[in-house]
Amino acid sequence: MIEVRVPLPADRSYPVLVGPGLASELAAHLRQHALPSAGRAAVVTQEGIPVRVDPGVEHRVFTIPEGESAKTLATIEGLCRDFAQWGLSRADIVVGVGGGVVTDVAGFAAASYHRGLPVVHVATTLLAQVDAAIGGKTGVNLPEGKNLVGAFWQPSLVLCDTALLDTLPEREMRCGLGEVAKYHFLGGSLSGAKIGRMAISLDELAIDERVARCVEIKAEVVAADERESGRRAVLNYGHTLGHAIETTGRYDLRHGEAVAVGLVYAAELARSLGRIGDDRVAEHRRVVESYGLCASLPVGADPEGLMAVMARDKKALSGFTFVLDGGSGVETVADIDVDTVRAALEAIR
Ligand code: GLY
Repeated sequence: MIEVRVPLPADRSYPVLVGPGLASELAAHLRQHALPSAGRAAVVTQEGIPVRVDPGVEHRVFTIPEGESAKTLATIEGLCRDFAQWGLSRADIVVGVGGGVVTDVAGFAAASYHRGLPVVHVATTLLAQVDAAIGGKTGVNLPEGKNLVGAFWQPSLVLCDTALLDTLPEREMRCGLGEVAKYHFLGGSLSGAKIGRMAISLDELAIDERVARCVEIKAEVVAADERESGRRAVLNYGHTLGHAIETTGRYDLRHGEAVAVGLVYAAELARSLGRIGDDRVAEHRRVVESYGLCASLPVGADPEGLMAVMARDKKALSGFTFVLDGGSGVETVADIDVDTVRAALEAIR
């Protein structure tokens, strides 16, 4: 088992434990890290998640519907009413068992109910293990857009059970690999990057160490900018085009698959702005393709439609804004000229 700490002020630091079989050890880890007294646990999960946990204290399981469409205020209301009817109190905890939808919903319900209960995540997908369960972003969608209502609510403990990854459907795994590919460019490809005492690149790591290294990179970014007033935006590397591909809803690509295309696009854009050279663009293509992900726009993609969505990106500062690689690493770059944005789309057709 590998332990990575997310270092935060005011006693809110927490461990992320990575390794095979951790879900079945929940009770011991809860006792050690999150629930020292005799509280109860509200376990939030979905029917389709093939993981049953035993928190080792009195608990009740609350299931939410499957899929992104479960991320609604109605789901939060339903959960909080169920919590209230059971009599959940501040002496108790919420445990989310699942992928990103569960960690977002369980986290937000925990943040809101009684103005905040501790939450622990048992992340069952690669996407949740390297991204959604870490860093305290919780929330739900509105008809007007994704993740428009939510809270920063850090978990007390995260378990990333890597044995569960063996049973993930191939496409679900690929979606997580799109986020893993992102970390190659946020420090994961630097020799000298460390897990504990290991100095090694993400490419060379076995799955447990690879997940742990991604968590370590994310932890460092979250610690520097918990509420995304600046640096945390680098975690959206590849996401501006990725979100546009998803938002148009016309192409059958899921989040991680769309992010993979967005990473290669961001590299092309950075090259045309003179920020990186040919080798670094080739490195982006190599990493994305090494994970079995596509590095070009979906067939029939409409560049003007994608540009219209990217122009409305909620993280935009002024003009077209992208997170781009460069000599001093990945950073946010605003005011990019429309013709440059369009030409880079042509480069990934
Ligand atoms: N998923 C991006 C973040 O946690 O900031």
